[in-house]
Amino acid sequence: MDLSSSASATPDSYSWFAQALLAWYPRHRRDLPWRHTRDPYFIWLSEVILQQTRVKQGLPYYLTFSNKYPTVQALAAAPSDEVLRHWQGLGYYSRARNMHYTAQQVVAEFGGQFPDSYAGLLLLKGVGQYTAAAVASFAYDEPVAVLDGNVFRVLARVFGLHYDIAAPASRKQFQQLADQLIPADQPAEFNQAIMEFGALQCTPAKPDCMFCPMQSRCFAFQHGMVAELPVKSKAKAARTRYFHYLVLRHADTVYLRKRGPKDIWEGLYDFALHETESAELAGAQLLAEVERLGGRVATDRAEEPAVAARHVLSHQKVEARFHEVWLAEPLPVDTATAGLAAYRSAEIEQLPKSILITNYVSTRQI
Ligand code: ADE
Repeated sequence: MDLSSSASATPDSYSWFAQALLAWYPRHRRDLPWRHTRDPYFIWLSEVILQQTRVKQGLPYYLTFSNKYPTVQALAAAPSDEVLRHWQGLGYYSRARNMHYTAQQVVAEFGGQFPDSYAGLLLLKGVGQYTAAAVASFAYDEPVAVLDGNVFRVLARVFGLHYDIAAPASRKQFQQLADQLIPADQPAEFNQAIMEFGALQCTPAKPDCMFCPMQSRCFAFQHGMVAELPVKSKAKAARTRYFHYLVLRHADTVYLRKRGPKDIWEGLYDFALHETESAELAGAQLLAEVERLGGRVATDRAEEPAVAARHVLSHQKVEARFHEVWLAEPLPVDTATAGLAAYRSAEIEQLPKSILITNYVSTRQI
């Protein structure tokens, strides 16, 4: 067979792929809790948690969520602070908010039952093509192929697809191929298998080509292009932001506020924030900020040096400085205090926070 033209061959000539994959899978699969259920709620939960997350990192979160919220009704009814608190540390917090919203939509608009088809699942606001395909195939045996990073990589290598996987337009090409590869009688097994194959065998770095059942048919292996495929254009350089946190303290309380929409960490708690264009913040500016918030600095406390920390997100880097300021008296409640409220240590522990804030709070034993 001419491997370079294999991508344009007829579907019948693809059957070897599913056969090889489905022979490989039972011998290598990991025993994971969401592989023992057909309940769309638990499958959906696992897929939301596993997006952009490795199984090892996501598994404890899946166990927490499936335990705390054993039904979609329980998740829908949970307070959003609590949901975010359980999500803490997993990152991409918009996923947690969307997950909560979707649970509420399933309860309010679908009587607590997940739609039972790919097209139906796509009606849920927080559910995209990937999640709809995963739930439809794993819960209902609908033959729609999942496409995630693992699947893109396997297909690009085995079939020699050179489309840029970072470009949204490439998705169509991969979906077309994957939909031809998926066997109508074993869609769930096939989708689990291809993701597992990408996660364990056809890994991004150092794939195990020597012991790979696809070796003799794999375009990338046969053409010495394993390291070149998939093609992925570089993301834009992350921009750097400078956050100056004013950690306002009085007696046994610290002032925090809930972050608003349209920026990172929506719904998570942090301190009064002054964002600047550079890393430095003059002492006078700091004082002006405290005054703007209606605070008066206590004069009987030595000034603490600022604590610096960095947090790298997918599209931005945050260079943070924490400036601890002791107040002479509580912030006046009648002035514009930017949503700040006083919390004690035990309360702060329970608030949902970014890792940046959690680390600071624990280092300073706040
Ligand atoms: N990553 C995303 N979905 C997965 C699944 N169902 N099993 C293992 N890893 C996954």
